[in-house]
Amino acid sequence: MSNEARKPIISGNWKMNHNHFEAIQCVQKLAYLLTKDDFAAVDVTIHPPFTDLRSVQTLIDADELKFILGAQHCHEVDSGAFTGEISAMFLAKLNVSYVIVGHSERREIFGETDESIHNKIVAIQKSKMTPILCVGETLAEREAGTTYEKVLGQLRSALEKRTAEQIKSMVIAYEPIWAIGTGKTATADDAQRVVSAIREEISKISSANVASAVRLQYGGSVKASNIAEIMAQPDIDGVLVGGASLDAAEFARICQYRLKKQD
Ligand code: 13P
Repeated sequence: MSNEARKPIISGNWKMNHNHFEAIQCVQKLAYLLTKDDFAAVDVTIHPPFTDLRSVQTLIDADELKFILGAQHCHEVDSGAFTGEISAMFLAKLNVSYVIVGHSERREIFGETDESIHNKIVAIQKSKMTPILCVGETLAEREAGTTYEKVLGQLRSALEKRTAEQIKSMVIAYEPIWAIGTGKTATADDAQRVVSAIREEISKISSANVASAVRLQYGGSVKASNIAEIMAQPDIDGVLVGGASLDAAEFARICQYRLKKQD
C-alpha cells in the first residue's frame, strides 16, 4: 500500500547506552547535522534511557529542537509499590510523546507477556502518548515457518479492544529478533511482506481506513547503507534503529535517507 500519505518516522532506540552527559552530546551533534527540511520530511524520535530523559527534554525545550522525545518502556500501573518501575504518567509529565512497548528484549529477557504489553498500551494511550508496539519472530520460529502466526498473534493481542482512533494513532514496528544487533537484516522484500501482512491484519481487526493510516516500521540492523532500500518499500513508513542510532553522524545519515535516493 503506497506510503505517500503517511509521514515517515525514524526512531533511535538507545537501549542501555549513553549516560545523560553522552546523551546531551549526541543530541547536540544530531541537531547540528539535521536541517529544518529533514524535520519537515521525517519525524525523528529519540528514546534515551530513563535517567537521561529530563536532560534531553530540557535541551529540546531550551534550544527549540525538533526531536520528538521517546521512552523505551513503562509500567502498566499509574503508581504504587512497584520498585524500580516508571509509570506512563511520569513519562507524560516529561513531555515524552512516544513509548516503545513490547520490545523483544523486554519480552525475552524480562518476561513481558502479551497481556502486560496490552495493558501498557492502554496506560500509554490514557496518558495521551503514542505507543510504538514491537512484534517479531525468533530465528527458530522463522525456520519453522511460523513467522506470520507469531507476529500477527502478538498484534491481535496488543490491539484487543482498542478503538479505531486508538489503533490509527499507533506506530507498529516489525523487528525480527534474529536481525536485532546481529548485522543480519531481513531483505527489504522480506520485511515488506511481513509488514504488509501486518497492515492487512489491521484492516481485518479494524478497517481498511485505519490500516492505511497506521505507520509501520522495520527494525533490525538498520544502517545508513541499507536505509534507502528499506524505506523504498510501499508499506514501510519508518525504522526503529538500535546500534546505529548511538552514533550521531550515522543516525543523521539514516534520517537523511531521502537525499541519498537522489544521488
Ligand atoms: P539494532 O538496530 O541494533 O539491530 O537494534 C534494533 C532494535 O532492537 C531497535 O529497537
